[in-house]
Amino acid sequence: MLRSLVKPLARAGQDEPPSSPPRHTLSRLFSYLRPYRLRMLVTLGIYVVCVTLTQLYPFIDRKLIDEHIAVGNPDGFLPLLFLAVVMHAVNWGGVYVRLHLIQRISWNILVDLRQQLFRHVAGLSFKFHENEPVGKTMTRFIGDANTLNDFLTNQVANVVNDVMSGLIVIVLMFAINPTLTLIALCMLPVLTAIGLYMRPRLYEGWERVRENMTRFNIFLAENIAGMRVIQAFVRENVNLGQFQAANQRVVTEWMKVIGLQSWFSPLVEITRSTALVIVLFIAANRLGVGGEVLTVGTLVAFTAYINNLWAPISTLTNMYVVLQATLASADKVFQLLDTQPTVTDAPNAVALPPIKGEIVFDHVYFGYDESRNALEDVSLRIAPGQLVALVGQTGSGKTTLASLVCRFYDVTGGRITVDGYDVRAVTQQSLRSQIGVVLQEPFIFSDTIANNIRYGRPDATIEEVIAAAKQANCHDFIMRLSDGYETVAHERGSQFSVGQRQLLSIARAILADPRVIVLDEATSAVDTETERLIQDAFEKLMAAEDSPHGRRTAIVIAHRLSTIRKADQIVVLKHGRIVEVGNHQTLVNKPGGYYAALVRAQATGH
Ligand SMILES: Nc1ncnc2c1ncn2[C@@H]1O[C@H](COP(=O)(O)OP(=O)(O)OP(=O)(O)O)[C@@H](O)[C@H]1O
Ligand SMILES: [Mg+2]
Repeated sequence: MLRSLVKPLARAGQDEPPSSPPRHTLSRLFSYLRPYRLRMLVTLGIYVVCVTLTQLYPFIDRKLIDEHIAVGNPDGFLPLLFLAVVMHAVNWGGVYVRLHLIQRISWNILVDLRQQLFRHVAGLSFKFHENEPVGKTMTRFIGDANTLNDFLTNQVANVVNDVMSGLIVIVLMFAINPTLTLIALCMLPVLTAIGLYMRPRLYEGWERVRENMTRFNIFLAENIAGMRVIQAFVRENVNLGQFQAANQRVVTEWMKVIGLQSWFSPLVEITRSTALVIVLFIAANRLGVGGEVLTVGTLVAFTAYINNLWAPISTLTNMYVVLQATLASADKVFQLLDTQPTVTDAPNAVALPPIKGEIVFDHVYFGYDESRNALEDVSLRIAPGQLVALVGQTGSGKTTLASLVCRFYDVTGGRITVDGYDVRAVTQQSLRSQIGVVLQEPFIFSDTIANNIRYGRPDATIEEVIAAAKQANCHDFIMRLSDGYETVAHERGSQFSVGQRQLLSIARAILADPRVIVLDEATSAVDTETERLIQDAFEKLMAAEDSPHGRRTAIVIAHRLSTIRKADQIVVLKHGRIVEVGNHQTLVNKPGGYYAALVRAQATGH
């Protein structure tokens, strides 16, 4: 019953949610602008003022030329000139202020969006982080977030700017000479048609470039992370070949778009030049247009206006591309934001009170995917303070079983309780903060050693950090480092051996002082001295010398007989099922038992 109930829930969030209609995507996108709407309105207002001023210059120039310079009339010349200077000054001031305002809004939105993304991604379950390539998730934070932010600020401002420019120019042109305006504008539909024909094709081209860029990023991120393996297997040349292919694909797609693009700009130029030629032709032949012969001032103003009109109209036809690219990015970002964690706190989840450390597996079933169960009908009771060793062949489900205690995944059948509380009924935070996990491959962050040790308790003092490090037998090697506890670890702690990393993460666990410990012993062979240090550190960790509650409950995935031998319960897993349970004494003599065979093999060194 429970199994059938839980299963659909556990699976539900794993698929990416479908994309919503463009209208919804856009309105959701604009909601990021809401907190800044007042500042944005002011900014857009400044844009409008600047645009108006800019477009008034040719109008004033025309007046200066026709009414003063051409006819040698000094009256009113200076005030007009002064007006032009003031307008320029106001415009420059406006450009300065709007640049600052728009940049500030833009960065605020980007910071908001990235905060929201990080908070969300940090809340997503193991399933998501295992399935999604790091390069892809990073693209959402960097490339896509930038696209959205650019759209909301710069592109919105550009549209206002361009539409206003276009309208003002056309109005002023009509004010000067309506017939000439109509003649000059006859090339506009041609320009628009070219834009509408070319832009979607350009968009598709750029999309292909972007897709190949993402693939390139994923390839690169993975290869840099896996460089040691590449070198160990002398794969440099093979991977270089693959890298070159990925590299080349980006160039090929890029050049295809450029081929198309290089048609576009000249075509726009041709329409603009044609409009100019028509106006010049009329002026040169002194043809009367709209009842008057073209004056020099009108010619100057018209030439300027034609130039000023082509630029915004050309960029406006580009809005299609910008909009498509933005919608594509927004879809990806919102899909990520809509991806639900597979493991969530129940609506009525309570905080798990301080526990004694009793863990019960009650007919637990679990599968990473529907096709196969990684654990089947696992039942096990671990009393507070007990040490349980999980053994079994590789892939038998040891790590899986251990990670279910922390509720990194939800069981698909049965239940797991901690001190009688179903792990699904309590908040994840209250559960995990009472369980210390030492991973098979401990993760060290590129921060100081001290901060790495106080990872689970950021407020711990340096004295507490040192005390934990001493217990975990890593104080000596830390003191040998150049800056002691202030030494900054490389990414993933690559300057430390696996053994040292494991000692550091034991110190981390000691400092966090959890009631339950889950330890995935490093499989890689460490020297006997380090092994002794780890053993000793681990024993101190379990003994919980400073704790008033006595020994901690420990689940250890052990590879070495020395650890296993001391366990209160040895649990042998095979293909996700428990096949043997007992202590060393009861299991070692069991005829045909896995554990008995293991002991014999280790004793004889096979
Ligand atoms: N993230 C995952 N997604 C899908 N399947 C997984 C995942 N992790 C483990 N499995 C599968 O679940 C089964 C149990 O794996 P698990 O990691 O628990 O084995 P293990 O006993 O810890 O092995 P080892 O001794 O090698 O660490 C294996 O068949 C494995 O292929
Ligand atoms: Mg494992």
